[in-house]
Amino acid sequence: MCHAAEELNIMDAPKEAGLLNVSSVCSIPEMDDFELTKLLDKPRLTIKRERSFDERSLSEMSLSRGLDNLELAYSPGGRSGLNTPASSTRNSFEPHPMVAEAWDSLRRSLVHFRGQPVGTIAAYDHASEEVLNYDQVFVRDFVPSALAFLMNGEPDIVKNFLLKTLQLQGWEKRIDRFKLGEGAMPASFKVLHDPERKTDTIVADFGESAIGRVAPVDSGFWWIILLRAYTKSTGDLTLAETPDCQKGMRLILTLCLSEGFDTFPTLLCADGCSMIDRRMGIYGYPIEIQALFFMALRCSLAMLKLDAEGKEFVERIMKRLHALSFHMRSYFWIDFQQLNDIYRYKTEEYSHTAVNKFNVIPDSIPDWVFDFMPTRGGYFIGNVSPARMDFRWFALGNCVAILSSLATPEQASAIMDLFEERWEELVGEMPIKICYPAIESHEWRIVTGCDPKNTRWSYHNGGSWPVLLWLLTAACIKTGRPQIARRAIELAESRLLKDGWPEYYDGKLGRYIGKQARKYQTWSIAGYLVAKMMLEDPSHLGMISLEEDRQLKPIIKRSASF
Ligand code: GLC
Repeated sequence: MCHAAEELNIMDAPKEAGLLNVSSVCSIPEMDDFELTKLLDKPRLTIKRERSFDERSLSEMSLSRGLDNLELAYSPGGRSGLNTPASSTRNSFEPHPMVAEAWDSLRRSLVHFRGQPVGTIAAYDHASEEVLNYDQVFVRDFVPSALAFLMNGEPDIVKNFLLKTLQLQGWEKRIDRFKLGEGAMPASFKVLHDPERKTDTIVADFGESAIGRVAPVDSGFWWIILLRAYTKSTGDLTLAETPDCQKGMRLILTLCLSEGFDTFPTLLCADGCSMIDRRMGIYGYPIEIQALFFMALRCSLAMLKLDAEGKEFVERIMKRLHALSFHMRSYFWIDFQQLNDIYRYKTEEYSHTAVNKFNVIPDSIPDWVFDFMPTRGGYFIGNVSPARMDFRWFALGNCVAILSSLATPEQASAIMDLFEERWEELVGEMPIKICYPAIESHEWRIVTGCDPKNTRWSYHNGGSWPVLLWLLTAACIKTGRPQIARRAIELAESRLLKDGWPEYYDGKLGRYIGKQARKYQTWSIAGYLVAKMMLEDPSHLGMISLEEDRQLKPIIKRSASF
């Protein structure tokens, strides 16, 4: 059923309208056999257009079929500028008292540039004597804030942020005498107000000031994901269609689609290039980056215009998505059956017939994983490279794998099963662990370089991060298991406000406020709000979730939960 606002014949559409307009929310039967190649040659379809926005799939239209209502929903908040959260006024029940407090704190963290809100600072912690760089707007930290504002019908700040960071991308970026890739997006930026001269200036950090001097690989991906969320939530296609946004996307994609010596479709990364921005042994092919990469590719596919430049990128993206989904679903996936297979692996196999392709030596499987692995459930492991499998479980990568449909529906429910089976380990008393388990003793010395901030069960090393609640909630809704999210939110509600919205918690169960945790950490606040709003109105999920693409269906069957 189409609920279209206007009908658009693509043949008649102006060239620069691109195929974004083709992304339809209608289920059009004649599109069943639709192929991208045909579309590229002769865009002949008469389709219906409306203000909502859906992703273009590999076969252009296949996604718009079989989508559930969540996917189709266009959810404008429409309350821009008001202080009262729209979500609580829509409530049929009394909102939790924490919600209003959270909104106040979120608004307090707003950062303005020349009178316009452009982001939120990482933490508004007056009590902390050490500010470090927590007074900056971090790209990744702003994502939950942005979603909260979008869900509340306040898209302007998100648009300002997207445009401001796009400008920063245009800066020349250097570390010492080395120039970074053009498309790199900053980890963070800071607005400097000069009250005397009444001027505002911006300084940005692309990794040249960051501890460890690592560039944030996730920033560009989050930027693309947020651009789609903005477009989907507002129905405003014009922002993504501007030449500047199109170019920004292409520059980010150039960085990660370039050809080199790679033998895998995954993206090779330095340690500390993501949310875990210190040495934690995630160098190589970390799940967090691969899942964000996959999601950003799929979001780009929906937003790139099919002009001469865009078309080339779309083709490259499609090839990469095919290879990436196959690689991830086959080699990163683990469950009881798969673990048992690896445990029995032969080694030193040569040639195409090899089963143990990366020559993983079974002796390198850590003891903990045998106990941790339930009979029911599974997950994407932390990293796979030659003779190295990092069996650690990482929250962000697994949740984003669900949201982007990198995980097959079976894998997605297996990940949720794991949450239920290993609740104490992964959720404990404060949702949720950034990774499991912690690295200790000698291994901690070698892997972290003796990092005192990342001691066992603290910070990035098995600490519990409230911000991840929004990702867990989104994954729960997508897999039809909202009760899991409800349970986690209740845990958070019992402490977060009282504890002053800490950045992270420490300990095996996440019972202790983190050793060096900031208070009033913005993404802890925003993450809670987003989780609440999504549970209340699940149609919000559409802005941050992509349905499965039939073109990416797995070719091989490996085990029960595959
Ligand atoms: C820490 C976190 C990083 C976050 C930043 C600002 O460096 O590791 O993920 O973006 O703080 O909150």
